[in-house]
Amino acid sequence: MGKKVILDVDTGTDDAIALMLAALSPDLELLGACSVGGNRALSYTTENTLRVLEYINSPATTYRGCEWPMVASLPKWRRPMLPFTSEHEEAKNVHTDYVPMPQATRKVGDKHAVTWLVDTLMASDGDVTIIPVGPQTNIGMALRMEPRIAEKIEQIVFMGGAHAVGNTTPTSEFNIWMDPEAAKIVADSGVKIVAVPVNATHAAYVTMDECDEIEALGTPAAIKAAEMIRQRIRGYMEWQPLDVPFAAPVHDPLAVCAVINPDVLKDVRHVFYDVDFSGGASDGQTIFDVCERYKHEAKNAYVALDADRELFVKMLKEILALEIK
Ligand code: BDR
Ligand code: CA
Repeated sequence: MGKKVILDVDTGTDDAIALMLAALSPDLELLGACSVGGNRALSYTTENTLRVLEYINSPATTYRGCEWPMVASLPKWRRPMLPFTSEHEEAKNVHTDYVPMPQATRKVGDKHAVTWLVDTLMASDGDVTIIPVGPQTNIGMALRMEPRIAEKIEQIVFMGGAHAVGNTTPTSEFNIWMDPEAAKIVADSGVKIVAVPVNATHAAYVTMDECDEIEALGTPAAIKAAEMIRQRIRGYMEWQPLDVPFAAPVHDPLAVCAVINPDVLKDVRHVFYDVDFSGGASDGQTIFDVCERYKHEAKNAYVALDADRELFVKMLKEILALEIK
C-alpha cells in the first residue's frame, strides 16, 4: 500500500489534476478528499471533486467541508469579493465553474469534512499526510475542534503562500489570503509542515507542447489534464503572463508530487514560518524567515523556493498514463 494521504481541495483545474495524481499514483493511498470554498463557492468545488474522482474510477469518498473562511469574510471590507464566481476576471480565465467532466452521480460522504478529518486522524496510527491545496479552513477547524489530531498527522504538505511575490495581492497568495486565520492555526500546530509556495509552482510551469505530449498518453486522466492545463495557459497569458510564453503554473499537483518524491522540490529551507492575519495591507502574507532574522523563533516549516520542472513534468506523464480499471 502507498503512503496514506488526504487531499483538501477547492477544485479548480489544478486541484482536479492534483486529485487525479493522488488517486492514480501507486505510491499513495488516497483516504478521501475534503472540499472547501475557494476557487469557486463550495457547491461547485464539491461537485467538481465528486466529478474528478468518479471520472477516473477512484473509490475515494468526497467530504463536503467549509464554505466560508473562519473569520476573514466577516468584516465586509476585508473580503468583499467572496464567494468567487465566474464573473471575476481572473477566475473566469483560469478556472471554469465546473471541471470538464460529466456531472457526478455519486454523493458526498455522510460526515462533514471536519468531523471526518478528526475521526479519521484520531483512529489512525499517526501515518497520514494531509495535502491542503486550497484555503486551509477545514484543517484549521479540525485543529480547533480536536487539537490532539496534531500528534496524529505525519506531515502537512500544502500548496500555498508566496515568498516576496503574491498572486492575489502584492504580498499574498490566494489559498493563504482566503483564510489567513486558518493558515495561522496550521502554522502554529506543531505538525511538520512542508510549504509549496508560488515560488516553486511558478518554476514548475507546463507548456502547450507538453500538453500535447500529455494528451498523447491517451488515458482519460491525461486527456482531461491536458485540456485543463491548456485552459490555464490561456488564462495565465491573459491574466498573469509568465516570462516563458505558452506556459502556466499548475500549482496543486506539485504538492502531491512532493509527497511522492521530495526531490521535485528544490532550494528547500528549514525556516520559521508565520502568517499575517492583521487585516492590513499585507493580510494573508506568508513570512518565511529565510534570513533567520527571528533567532528566538523555532523553525516550524520547510519551504521550497524552487522546483525541478523536468522531474515534475515527467511525474505528471508517468502518473496520468495510469488508469483505475
Ligand atoms: C492556488 O490558488 C488556486 O487558484 C489554485 O487552485 C491554487 O491552489 C494558487 O495560488
Ligand atoms: Ca487549489
